[in-house]
Amino acid sequence: MQILKIQGGRRLVGQVKASGAKNAALPILAASLLTADDLVLHNVPDLTDVRTMLKLLEGMGVTVKRDGETVVLNAGRVVSTVAPYELVKTMRASILTLCPLVARFGHAEVSLPGGCAIGARPVDQHIKGLRLLGADVIIEHGYVKAKADRLEGAHLFTDMVTVTGTENLLMAAVLAKGTTVIENAAREPEVVDLIECLNAMGAKISGAGTSVLTIEGVDRLHGAEHSVIADRIEVGSFLIAGAMTQGDVLVTHCVPKQMEPILDKLREAGAQLDVGDDWIRVRMTGRPKSVNIRTAPHPGFPTDMQAQFMTLNCVAQGTGHVTETIFENRFMHVPELMRLGAQITIEGSTAIVTGVEGLTGAKIMATDLRASASLVIAALAAQGESTVDRIYHLDRGYESMESKLKALGAEITRENQ
Ligand code: UD1
Repeated sequence: MQILKIQGGRRLVGQVKASGAKNAALPILAASLLTADDLVLHNVPDLTDVRTMLKLLEGMGVTVKRDGETVVLNAGRVVSTVAPYELVKTMRASILTLCPLVARFGHAEVSLPGGCAIGARPVDQHIKGLRLLGADVIIEHGYVKAKADRLEGAHLFTDMVTVTGTENLLMAAVLAKGTTVIENAAREPEVVDLIECLNAMGAKISGAGTSVLTIEGVDRLHGAEHSVIADRIEVGSFLIAGAMTQGDVLVTHCVPKQMEPILDKLREAGAQLDVGDDWIRVRMTGRPKSVNIRTAPHPGFPTDMQAQFMTLNCVAQGTGHVTETIFENRFMHVPELMRLGAQITIEGSTAIVTGVEGLTGAKIMATDLRASASLVIAALAAQGESTVDRIYHLDRGYESMESKLKALGAEITRENQ
């Protein structure tokens, strides 16, 4: 088991390059199953979840060639349409192989993801939509087993806005016969990125970035070349780390216009932001001001930035309310932040954070992916030494986080325990 050891209290200063977005890369990698031709992807981040998805696809017979940030996939010789429990249990996004497999091969068996640390996270909307597209779907021995001769376009409406649900159904509809409409679709930039890649592969999807997507099914998709968008959550995390340590951090290779809800809250917290076409510079002097946060589907405030903003509130002037509306159990970082001296009380789905002058280093434990980033950020700002345990959570979604932080002046080392 590895830990991060952090000597906190140093200002972060310098420049850092954003990596490709994990949440865009995962569905786009799964989209390789939709064609027998090469799919050439650039800006693919090197992190555990991406490696898990590549392993899953390779197990199905997809050939994968990786050269730095470029990955070339070919699903010309798929030998299995099964996503086994052993991989799915480590990454729920494995469910994204379900619809492309059924759409192209007419069958799939994908282990049903169980609950996860932040909530129950069912996939009923994926299954409901796939059934409406004509697939015969049963749950047996812990697997979602789906069959269809050829999917047929349908009018779909998801009960709630679901990111991977929208992505999965898109990947079913692109090869279905006729027209599909998905209402209440997710508008996240990562969904838009998937649509751009699918359209480059010959799909006919309109409405990207809106809540109504129209898909004219085609008989086959072809190969394409696509560059994955920047990771707005990684960018946001570095901006918070800069602000929290009263530093001066420039993040390059990002897409500021996809980050308005995050930038808006940073400004409200008193951060000075300079924004270019593909870069953002954050500077902060003095303590931040408390901000109220309410998570919501895009373009609302992203739940994946909730823990990091709560951390900023921990050292802010005043009291901030952080309300989580997407996941039912996403406050597990709270007791860990309190070990660093934060003052937080939880009332239902709201955490009330009263800022303190400063945090002090302690031993803390990562509980889920985004919570782990918030704990690293808190430790960077805390006086003295902290150790962050269970950092495999962090490695799932952040590329080279500690070397990027080191380059900004953080004193951080990875150790085997
Ligand atoms: C994706 C992101 C995750 C982010 C989340 C919300 C990926 C790989 N992960 O997760 O980082 O935190 O969006 O922005 O892109 N729900 C159902 N039934 C379903 C589907 C969803 O009840 O069939 C519920 C979920 O339990 C949750 C809410 O809908 O309460 C939103 O979940 P969803 O958008 O599907 O999250 P993911 O796609 O799993």
